[in-house]
Amino acid sequence: MAQNIAPLQPIFGVAPTGAGLTVLHILHLEDNLADHELVARALARSDLACDLQLADTLDDFQDAVRAGGVDAVLADYHLAGFSGMDAWEWMRAEGVDLPFVLVSGAIGEATVADAMVRGVSDYVDKHRLARLPAVLQRALDFAANRRARAEAQQALAESRQRLVELTEHLQSSIDRERADIAREIHDDIGGSLAAVKLDLTWLARHTSDAEAGRHIASALQMAETALGASQRIMRNLRPAVLDQGLMAALQWLARTFAERTEIDVRLHGRLSVPLPPRVEMAAYRTAQEALTNVLKHAKATQVRLEVSDLEGYLTLEISDNGRGAGPDDLAKLQSFGLLGLKERAQSVGGWLDVVAAAGQGMTLILSVPLDGSATPETEMAE
Ligand SMILES: Nc1ncnc2c1ncn2[C@@H]1O[C@H](COP(=O)(O)OP(=O)(O)O)[C@@H](O)[C@H]1O
Ligand SMILES: [Mg+2]
Repeated sequence: MAQNIAPLQPIFGVAPTGAGLTVLHILHLEDNLADHELVARALARSDLACDLQLADTLDDFQDAVRAGGVDAVLADYHLAGFSGMDAWEWMRAEGVDLPFVLVSGAIGEATVADAMVRGVSDYVDKHRLARLPAVLQRALDFAANRRARAEAQQALAESRQRLVELTEHLQSSIDRERADIAREIHDDIGGSLAAVKLDLTWLARHTSDAEAGRHIASALQMAETALGASQRIMRNLRPAVLDQGLMAALQWLARTFAERTEIDVRLHGRLSVPLPPRVEMAAYRTAQEALTNVLKHAKATQVRLEVSDLEGYLTLEISDNGRGAGPDDLAKLQSFGLLGLKERAQSVGGWLDVVAAAGQGMTLILSVPLDGSATPETEMAE
């Protein structure tokens, strides 16, 4: 039987000590009414504003907890046919997180220790009930702190997750935008320049004026330069990975990087299975950012790229012989290159390892399982 005890009754209830105070709802699991009265008196003498609800069977206790609104539990240890610890274990199994104080006659140090190990908040000997309010208050404070910490952690985890999603969203927006720009350069600029070249060639064939011929030749050369530039821009925006596969794209990347920087770039390895487009793109962007970093930060003279798809994993390793990086370098707040790569790797089911120590060069290793967890997409984001 569970009975609600009116808060203002002197024995069973405890009057709030001041207006505006929240009244704590305490559930008391106890099958001895005299003991219950003693507990109620001990609380009434304290500053705690609370009302006390009595439950004397496990069923009643469970009903009262399920009904909600309970702030803390006081429980006798020896009850008729069960123990206070049964109530505690039930609460744990149900995921109910409430301060739980055992209030009992002498139960022995070992039993108390066991109860504490099992997570009970505290223990008060029923012959020393003057301690009860302070113990209860401490258990309530502790629980409130723990809850606040858990909520803060939850909020942090959610905000991290939102950040990951936002980054992914931004990344794919950038990829899509780049693809659109590349297409426009190809269709509009590339198309027009090709037409200009044709016309200039026609003019060159149909003029005998030497002066005009020289101008036409120089215009043809300009058109050629512009075409080359637009192709280079297109490649950067929408890598050749789309057309000829990752290996071809990496070869192109390595060659143009080496030409531009005079850093010795070697590409090793081979791929034996076709990769999902998103995985190819993640690998390509990893190599691209790694090379950009080498140029920006490494002071390296050699870079080695190694690709493999053995044992069900795509691995791409990019290592340089530059100055390396310490933990402070890698934790820079404003650096989003490596962070972006890590998130890109995660978005295709893989991960990125960064191996770096000051003076020992830097190695990035992208690993992506090829078991179908990164599903091939018919339309690539880029
Ligand atoms: N290959 C490298 N060699 C030495 N240091 C590097 C290399 N790559 C990255 N770093 C260090 O790690 C930091 C973080 O890199 P990254 O996230 O790409 O940001 P960013 O390039 O915008 O600075 C860099 O600022 C640099 O200090
Ligand atoms: Mg960078």
